[in-house]
Amino acid sequence: MRILLIGDIVGKPGERIVTRSLAGLRQRERLDLVIANAENAADGSGLSPSIYKKLIAAGVDGITLGDHIYRRSEIRSVLESAANIVKPANYPPAAPGRTWMVVAAADGTQVAVVSLLGRVFMRPVDCPWQAIDRVLAGIPAEVKVRIVDFHAEATSDKQLMGRYLDGRVSAVLGTHTHVATADEQVFPGGTAFQCDVGMTGPHHSILGRRIDRIAETTITFQPTQFDVATDDVRLSGTIVEVDAATGQATAVRRLVVRDSELESLEIKPAAGPPLM
Ligand SMILES: [Fe+2]
Ligand SMILES: [Fe+2]
Repeated sequence: MRILLIGDIVGKPGERIVTRSLAGLRQRERLDLVIANAENAADGSGLSPSIYKKLIAAGVDGITLGDHIYRRSEIRSVLESAANIVKPANYPPAAPGRTWMVVAAADGTQVAVVSLLGRVFMRPVDCPWQAIDRVLAGIPAEVKVRIVDFHAEATSDKQLMGRYLDGRVSAVLGTHTHVATADEQVFPGGTAFQCDVGMTGPHHSILGRRIDRIAETTITFQPTQFDVATDDVRLSGTIVEVDAATGQATAVRRLVVRDSELESLEIKPAAGPPLM
């Protein structure tokens, strides 16, 4: 089976390329399941209930978030009620949201999805290694396909998580840095790994935000509005091939979809009978 993790969706441009391309992409790449990190979907920070609904309607099966999870407080009700969205599992128990989810793939396979936050150059959170041990102990044994989105800054932390979980989960894929890394591989125990799957949004930018604004603030120390950029919009993600019977990954590959491909990916509704 094939599972796609879409990297951090940034703002309207990110949302738009996902909603326009996903149906076609599911067909072209023969995807059975699509997970998306949507922590930057609402104007670059957080996720709103309406964007959550649009992403799910477009064909996203499950949503992960990250350090910006609660930027839009309205998402709390979704986090507390919906079965297809998770909080980072190493947030404290009182933080709203579920620590893992099981979503059904198109081929019927049950897939567990977990999100974890790193602790290097990030706000302190609970130990991700202890958290994932706890979560994996709670997932039913028959759910063999397990995907971990490790939302972290440091490549060393991400590699360690991949090695730590090798043979225990199907994939450890990184998000948060918004820059895809060229280290996708399947570890000896059958766990697919990549430090970061990259950003879904405008790449003529600094991590999705306007270059001029970031430059002004960085160079002059004057606060500016870090608006979401507009140009060179790409969907970045990674596709993992998994043996559904064992949960072991057999292949992993990066995916980039550019704006220019949208035309060929968009599925036009079939023409109905002529109106009388
Ligand atoms: Fe992000
Ligand atoms: Fe993040």
